[in-house]
Amino acid sequence: MAASTGPYTLPPLPYAYNALEPVISQQIMDLHHKKHHQTYVNNLNAALASQAKATQSNDISALVSLLQKIKFNGGGHINHSLFWENLTPPDSDASKLETAAPTLHKAIVSRWGSEQAFKDTFSDTLLGLQGSGWGWLVSRGNGGKLDITTTKDQDPVTAPEVPIFGVDMWEHAYYLQYLNNKGGYVSQIWRVINWAVAEERYKHGIDSSKTFKPAM
Ligand SMILES: [Fe+2]
Repeated sequence: MAASTGPYTLPPLPYAYNALEPVISQQIMDLHHKKHHQTYVNNLNAALASQAKATQSNDISALVSLLQKIKFNGGGHINHSLFWENLTPPDSDASKLETAAPTLHKAIVSRWGSEQAFKDTFSDTLLGLQGSGWGWLVSRGNGGKLDITTTKDQDPVTAPEVPIFGVDMWEHAYYLQYLNNKGGYVSQIWRVINWAVAEERYKHGIDSSKTFKPAM
């Protein structure tokens, strides 16, 4: 694997590659983290280096053509960094919404009526997503109004919305294990959502300088 040369680096997983089994296989986690996420990081760094050169030489045409690369690969880096952190081994303490995230649990029940109603609505949204993209629980500012939203491809959630947790709905996130059974992946994902992390994000937001730019 080529070492990253730019300012962004692949953050280590906060658990072992097999820690999410049987919900997400070690094979998927290996490829998803070491290959897919690493490629977003490498391509982001390459695009940023080209951008610096194009800025120096006042090459506006090159700058415009780089925007999409930076958006796609920067979004891929942001989304996957958030995703690894918002997962936890199946049925661990952090996976229990009511006890791991009491404040968020209250807000969810107040918004959707019950935990189950929220999960049903979120699952329907994930399954309704066409093509590649992400499903998110977001709040409008810290501790704000909750909503379920989707983003296409690698578009990230942007301010003023705060991403509480996301679910990767690209085929690379589930296909090797679940094949075309997207519903199986969606129904199992609830066992590995890290509600302790979600509670932190809901109350305090996300520190981008730490989350997406780990210490060198
Ligand atoms: Fe992914």
